Amino acid sequence: MMLTLLLALATSVVDATPMTLNANCPPSFERTAANTCQLVTRYDAYDSLQNKGVGGTQTALPKARDGFSPQQIDLGRYLFFDPLLSGNHRQACASCHQPAQGFADGKALSTGTHGDIGTRSAPGLWNVAFQKKLFWDARADSLEQQALIPLFAPHEMANTAEQLLADLAASREYPALFAQAFPESSQFELSQVASALAAFQSSLISLNSRYDQYAHGYHEALNEEEIKGMNVFRSFVARCAECHTPPLFTNQQIAVIGTPEPDGMPFDSGAGNSSDKSKLRGAFKVPSLRNVARTAPYMHSGRFATLAEAAEFYTKGRGHAVADQKLLLHWHIWEPKLTPEEIGQISKFLHSLTDESLMPAVPNRLPSGLPLPAELRTPTAELRELRTPTDLNTKTVKLRTPIDLNTNAELRTPIDLNTKTKAESRTPIDLKSQINTENNSEKITTPSNTQGTQP
Ligand code: HEC
Ligand code: HEC
Repeated sequence: MMLTLLLALATSVVDATPMTLNANCPPSFERTAANTCQLVTRYDAYDSLQNKGVGGTQTALPKARDGFSPQQIDLGRYLFFDPLLSGNHRQACASCHQPAQGFADGKALSTGTHGDIGTRSAPGLWNVAFQKKLFWDARADSLEQQALIPLFAPHEMANTAEQLLADLAASREYPALFAQAFPESSQFELSQVASALAAFQSSLISLNSRYDQYAHGYHEALNEEEIKGMNVFRSFVARCAECHTPPLFTNQQIAVIGTPEPDGMPFDSGAGNSSDKSKLRGAFKVPSLRNVARTAPYMHSGRFATLAEAAEFYTKGRGHAVADQKLLLHWHIWEPKLTPEEIGQISKFLHSLTDESLMPAVPNRLPSGLPLPAELRTPTAELRELRTPTDLNTKTVKLRTPIDLNTNAELRTPIDLNTKTKAESRTPIDLKSQINTENNSEKITTPSNTQGTQP
């Protein structure tokens, strides 16, 4: 009884303390003298692709969006989880981009704050810092530009700029937090909301999966089936890696591949318009496949329930799912005649791309004083699993890999060329794909060829 009272008292005392933003960069980021966070990854040690083809496992990443302050990142985290951002204070960004669902929502089509069903599936947000274009149809050029769209879309968060700014200004903690994150500015601006959300989302980095450990030279990180799957994935028969190019598992292009709409849904022309002549009619952004095991169902329409189903789509024949549409299908979409066994192996390989070790903490108290939206309150099985060491984590520890992205000491140690060479030569697939790359260099290398369609 006494204890309960004390606990209650303690909680209320904690709740009354003004919130402060984290002054440290998230793991995997280094704080600069100018108080900005710079991403450091093991891939920094590798050469860039520079349009030299599909590339091996040891290829640099594209430039990431970084350079935000630790306070901006932390403010963005609070905003991302806060239902204050929606018109009726019920829905947060995280309602449709849930940490336990790979920052997607587990639904084929997401539901807005007033219960409206949307027309596309919510994509996961891991590694979104590297994405040059956002949305399935690549219509947004930056995270800042993107963020304002769901906030004010009537079928999503249904807010207005006026209400949002007024709510933030009237809230318990936000005025002080914005002052910490944007010390040079004396008032709220919408651009600060967008920039904090961009800052937080850019910190969602997933680059330490078992696949990555394999790529960095630790061969035993993948089992035999997964390696077979990787070899099929990267082969010139399946051609998956032509578009889902490592290390990000996307070449950031848009392509017409002809996935089906769910029954009863009208045709989605994606990046194209409704004119039959448009080369981009039915084109969608090639999604990254990082943490893809977490983001079922798949495709812009959420049409496929499993990774095996998504992989099987590619082998059922060019254009089989959209016979009545005049689509100019990408030339890498053909009929690879993958066996069920190979499809299973691809699916196993895609599971090895899971890494959630840099999962940010869900705030246990929001600056608005509102409770977390219901869908985020009870941790699902997956989230609980994340908190206890999973076999993935245990394996990570066993792998003598202090290659954890935040271990700067390790990162500063230059990767010695010997290991690199050994790793390359131990990777059987490289041989094959390099031969293909050379033989077909003019066909598979230039980005202009992978963009759009070819006769
Ligand atoms: C109602 C559900 C819903 C809410 C709420 C929502 N999103 Fe989304 N989000 C989606 C859907 C659906 C898409 C894909 C839409 C499309 O491609 O046309 C998307 C796409 C995105 C993308 C693009 C990812 C990529 O790889 O292209 C980002 C980034 C994003 N959302 C961030 C946010 C942020 C930040 C918020 C809060 C301000 C938010 N979302 C709120 C459903 C939602
Ligand atoms: C021509 C480029 C291209 C090739 C080749 C390609 N893909 Fe894709 N992939 C895409 C595009 C574009 C999408 C999104 C399509 C959509 O939403 O309608 C996609 C979506 C996916 C998805 C769903 C991801 C998600 O987040 O919903 C998976 C899984 C996938 N591809 C796996 C594969 C596999 C396995 C192969 C090889 C058998 C392959 N892809 C070959 C372009 C390609």
